[in-house]
Amino acid sequence: MSLLQIEGLGIDFGGLRAVNDVGFALKPGEIVSVIGPNGAGKTTLFNMISGVYAPARGRVALDGEDVTRMPPHLLARRGLSRTFQNLQIFQSMSVLENAVAGHHLHERGSVFADLLSLPAARRRSQASEDSARALLDRVGLGRAAEQEASSLSYGALKRLEIARALALKPRVLLLDEPAAGCNAVETEEIDHLIAKVAAEGVSILLVEHDMKMVMRISNHIVVLDHGEKIAEGEPTAISRNPRVIEAYLGAHATEAQNADG
Ligand SMILES: Nc1ncnc2c1ncn2[C@@H]1O[C@H](COP(=O)(O)OP(=O)(O)O)[C@@H](O)[C@H]1O
Ligand SMILES: [Mg+2]
Repeated sequence: MSLLQIEGLGIDFGGLRAVNDVGFALKPGEIVSVIGPNGAGKTTLFNMISGVYAPARGRVALDGEDVTRMPPHLLARRGLSRTFQNLQIFQSMSVLENAVAGHHLHERGSVFADLLSLPAARRRSQASEDSARALLDRVGLGRAAEQEASSLSYGALKRLEIARALALKPRVLLLDEPAAGCNAVETEEIDHLIAKVAAEGVSILLVEHDMKMVMRISNHIVVLDHGEKIAEGEPTAISRNPRVIEAYLGAHATEAQNADG
C-alpha cells in the first residue's frame, strides 16, 4: 500500500485552475520529486497535501485513510510534516532553541506546563533539549547549537529548517525548494542530508529546481505544467521525455539565462 496517495487533486484561484486532476503515490522510503516551471502549481499542490489549502477537488490518503482537508497540526500528528519555500526560522533565537521549538509544535500542553515550570515540565524540557541536540547532530549542526540562528550560513539555515520538520518525527516529509538560494557546496550537503533522511525510512516529497539533485536522488518524478501533470516516471525516462523537455527544461534554460544575465 502507498504511504501517501494523491488522487485527482485540484484547486482554483478565481478563474485560474492552479492545480487540476493531479494524482500520484509515495511509497515507504521513496523520494518523489515534483518538478515544473515557475507557476506550475508545485507549492499549491504541497499546500493542499499538507492541509494549508483546502482542495476543491480530489483526495489525499495517508496509510489508506482519507486525510483531505485535515489541518496541518493534525497531519503532523499522523506523521506528515513539511518545510516552507521561505525560511521560517527565528533569527534571534539560538540554533538549539529553534530546534526545540520544532519539537514543541507536536507536544500537547508543553507551553502551559513550561510557563508554570512544573517539575514534569522541566524534565520534559530536558528531554526536548536532548532530542533537539540529537536532531542538530543529524543535520550536521551539532557544534552550532549555541550560536544565534542569524549567524548561520544560508545552507546551514536550510538544514536547521529540515531539523525542525524532523522534530515532528514524520514518516512523510514535504520539502519545498530545500536548496533554493544555496551555493553548489550547500546544495550538495542538502542533497546528502535528504538521501540520508530517506535511508533512515522517512518518505520524501520534494520540490526542487536543482535538476542535478532531483535526477540524482529521486526514485520517481512527477512533472507539472500549468497545474496539470504532464508526465511521471523514473529520472532517466523523465529527462528524455520530449514534453518535459519542452515544458520544463525549455523554461528552465530561459530562467538560467536570466539568472546569468
Ligand atoms: N494564494 C493564491 N492566490 C491566488 N493565486 C495563487 C495563490 N497561490 C498560487 N497562486 C497562483 O497559482 C499558480 C501556481 O503557483 P505555485 O503553486 O506557487 O507555483 P510553483 O510553486 O510551481 O512555482 C500561479 O499562477 C500562482 O500565481
Ligand atoms: Mg513554489
